[in-house]
Amino acid sequence: MNAPLPRPLIDRFNRRISYLRLSVTDRCDLRCSYCIPQGFKDFEEPEHWLTFDEIERVVRLFGLLGVGRVRLTGGEPLLRKDLAQLAGRLSVLPGIEDLSLSTNATQLDRHATALHAAGVKRLNISLDSLKRDCVTRVSGRDSLPAVMAGLDAAQAAGFAPIKLNMVVMQGVNDGEIEAMAAFCLARGFTLRLIEAMPMGDTGRNAHYLPLDGVRDQLVARFGLIPQALEMGGGPARYWQLPDGSGNIGFITPISQHFCATCNRVRLAVDGTLYLCLGQEEKLALRPLLRGGASDTELIAALRDAIELKPERHEFREQPGKIIRIMAHTGG
Ligand code: 5AD
Ligand code: SF4
Repeated sequence: MNAPLPRPLIDRFNRRISYLRLSVTDRCDLRCSYCIPQGFKDFEEPEHWLTFDEIERVVRLFGLLGVGRVRLTGGEPLLRKDLAQLAGRLSVLPGIEDLSLSTNATQLDRHATALHAAGVKRLNISLDSLKRDCVTRVSGRDSLPAVMAGLDAAQAAGFAPIKLNMVVMQGVNDGEIEAMAAFCLARGFTLRLIEAMPMGDTGRNAHYLPLDGVRDQLVARFGLIPQALEMGGGPARYWQLPDGSGNIGFITPISQHFCATCNRVRLAVDGTLYLCLGQEEKLALRPLLRGGASDTELIAALRDAIELKPERHEFREQPGKIIRIMAHTGG
């Protein structure tokens, strides 16, 4: 096969799309207060879930189009049966250079070794507090012990880096940021503090706190300096310890959005390709996949979809706009 490499995916705003976030389920064993509403029932029907064959096909085409980085996400991706098997199929596809996973880690203990062997090298783990009662309040389940076991297993399995994502909520967990930072620096995890996004009523009621004050406080407390080298290729801005032995990231979609450098699209479990977290533009891939579309037709559809990618989200200007919760779109 010596076919010339297809043109990369470049949108109307001259952003090259190099990153796919792939939601393998919209279900979750937790009910984080800013994400899935209590009693939520509107999950996708299993017959609408893309199969592993369909997912592999889409990722192979994205790989040909220069999307070299793929993140498995959800919902909680480890709820999808045989996830490590899927990871093994995706990590060997041509052009896929980096396969990562976002998880709440409640079941990571059991799966860490197999996932690492399957080619997943980087992990993001959601954890909003180190206090058991606070985690229970926020996530709707007494999940901290399982998550801690998951963290241990992840380090033992050799994942690097391991990033801990903490959604900061005013009056809920903002008093625990320093403790979380100290824990992560001591254990070699990269802490990333995230502003709550107004996705669904849960997101809108999440006690959003702008992170500039928090950042100033952490910079003073730990003597952080801005990190020169970019890390992760995503929206986080990193600060590091002066000797480089640890760092902390800040993800500020609301107070300082980063849409100008957005490099990503998201594939939901039902085969909908979303072009932006905070907008409605999308492409329904499942009907094409199940209707006999050829690779050429699929690639044409993907190119057309990239043309629809909006310039930016409007979380600030139109906070009521997005009714999809994060677990649907793929966090
Ligand atoms: N705002 C910000 N982050 C969110 N997440 C889920 N919902 C929201 C929201 N409304 C985050 C979780 C996790 C990832 C999957 O998405 O904390 O880190
Ligand atoms: Fe589950 Fe993640 Fe949503 Fe929490 S934020 S309910 S862990 S999908």
